[in-house]
Amino acid sequence: MIVITGVSGDLGKRIADQLAKIASPTGFRLTSRTPAKLAHYQALGFETAAFNFDDANSMDSALAGAETLLIISGDAPNDVRIRQHRAALESVKKSGVKRIVYTSFANPSAESLFPFADIHRDTETAIAESGLNYTILRNPMYAENIAGALQHAFETGELSLPSVQGRGTYMLKDDIAALTVNALIKAPGDKTTHVLTGSKALTLSDIADEASRVWAKPIRVSKMPMDVFKQMLEGFGLPEYLIQALEGMHHAIDADEYAEVNGEAVKLLGREPLAIEAILNQFN
Ligand SMILES: NC(=O)c1ccc[n+]([C@@H]2O[C@H](COP(=O)([O-])OP(=O)(O)OC[C@H]3O[C@@H](n4cnc5c(N)ncnc54)[C@H](OP(=O)(O)O)[C@@H]3O)[C@@H](O)[C@H]2O)c1
Repeated sequence: MIVITGVSGDLGKRIADQLAKIASPTGFRLTSRTPAKLAHYQALGFETAAFNFDDANSMDSALAGAETLLIISGDAPNDVRIRQHRAALESVKKSGVKRIVYTSFANPSAESLFPFADIHRDTETAIAESGLNYTILRNPMYAENIAGALQHAFETGELSLPSVQGRGTYMLKDDIAALTVNALIKAPGDKTTHVLTGSKALTLSDIADEASRVWAKPIRVSKMPMDVFKQMLEGFGLPEYLIQALEGMHHAIDADEYAEVNGEAVKLLGREPLAIEAILNQFN
């Protein structure tokens, strides 16, 4: 039995949808804090259950009879999320789970300018200390992270974000889901950390050039001042901890923290990951 957290989320749904196409649903227990959100998957034959990082009882019962747990990282401030992921690992220790798969993030080093790097470093450490088998997927930036900026660029001709000099790799969530499914059902029982990258490290100008080509119209780049960026995020109603994290992510991009390109994703997928063109095409 493979238990998956966060299936109501954008990545979790894509993982479940891909599993539904290639595997028997009987070997999977899909979870959310609110399992009613997963009725669609229950109708397809998947088991569903409540799993809340803040409720040990829910985790203990969701893990009954499980051999593998996919932890999709949650969405809370650092201290909360570190505590939540460690609580999940405490439940794992009481269960028969033998293997963890975890959605980490690129460059979880102590020197990173991205505040959430501390969460992923702590969780990776706790997983390694558990003594269990694991597959850690250090995911690159979701291409969908810049969908709002691309929408604006499509409408106005101006691609504006705070990080313009750094290079980074992006991957569409569908490919990250495919890599996660691959790790769940194909990877051997060992202790592996995959650093997953897109095929090209791009500056904002590179993305604007590609957008100009795909959309057949000129797209210029402008550097959004950080205070304007933060005001914009406040306007979207984002909590302060997330605004600080996104500010840090742009500093990290400008410091080339996400510029590594390697062949891991190609090797695991058996093909090149989708290029940035795939998200640009969604605006045509
Ligand atoms: N690589 C990147 O660029 C990038 C960007 C953004 C986020 N991320 C990370 O990737 C994760 C998945 O991305 P996504 O797009 O699927 O995010 P999402 O749509 O916001 O989904 C987050 C998931 O976390 C679950 N969750 C939140 N708090 C929980 C708790 N206390 N206990 C159990 N589950 C909890 C939610 O489940 P319920 O509400 O149903 O319980 C939801 O399914 C995010 O949570 C975040 O850690 C990565």
